[in-house]
Amino acid sequence: MQRQRSNTIRADKLSRALSIGGRTLHILKDLSFEITRGEWVALTGPSGSGKSTLLGLLAGIDTPTGGRLVLDGVDVTRIREGDLARIRNAKIGIVFQSFHLIPTLTARENVEVPLYIGPKAAEVESALPGCWSGWGLASGRDPHRQRREPSHDRAAV
Ligand SMILES: Nc1ncnc2c1ncn2[C@@H]1O[C@H](COP(=O)(O)OP(=O)(O)OP(=O)(O)O)[C@@H](O)[C@H]1O
Ligand SMILES: [Mg+2]
Repeated sequence: MQRQRSNTIRADKLSRALSIGGRTLHILKDLSFEITRGEWVALTGPSGSGKSTLLGLLAGIDTPTGGRLVLDGVDVTRIREGDLARIRNAKIGIVFQSFHLIPTLTARENVEVPLYIGPKAAEVESALPGCWSGWGLASGRDPHRQRREPSHDRAAV
């Protein structure tokens, strides 16, 4: 059996195809690579080359149509949605280009969302002040006034 290294992202012939108007569009085809803990990786390429599609797969918010994605030794393409959600909550942080903040929540509440649904729920009050002090929006009710900072903090918690 092939040894599965921990603390890595491993893609093995990862593919993502779409059916559009009876035709198959191969957005990503047979991508294989490995990223080890501590590595910094920049994904570059022309518009439409599939960067966002790949990030969606790596983050577990989209499903590949072929191949395998192994996160820290776990094949996330073969697990149940509930287990995938737990892995997303514990291991993945995303700063979305379009922020995806919940408009009815304050900036602080947006940052807290991943904490409430994760195993750290009991630590919410003690976990936040550290990342919060820098930008003074603790009582702000308008998350659109500053969206970049809450997006970054939400990805980090
Ligand atoms: N839901 C979809 N329906 C149709 N085509 C799609 C869909 N999602 C992605 N595509 C197509 O797949 C290709 C890759 O898209 P993707 O958004 O991953 O590219 P990108 O590298 O992130 O581009 P950009 O630099 O503009 O953000 C594009 O040709 C895009 O039009
Ligand atoms: Mg993109």
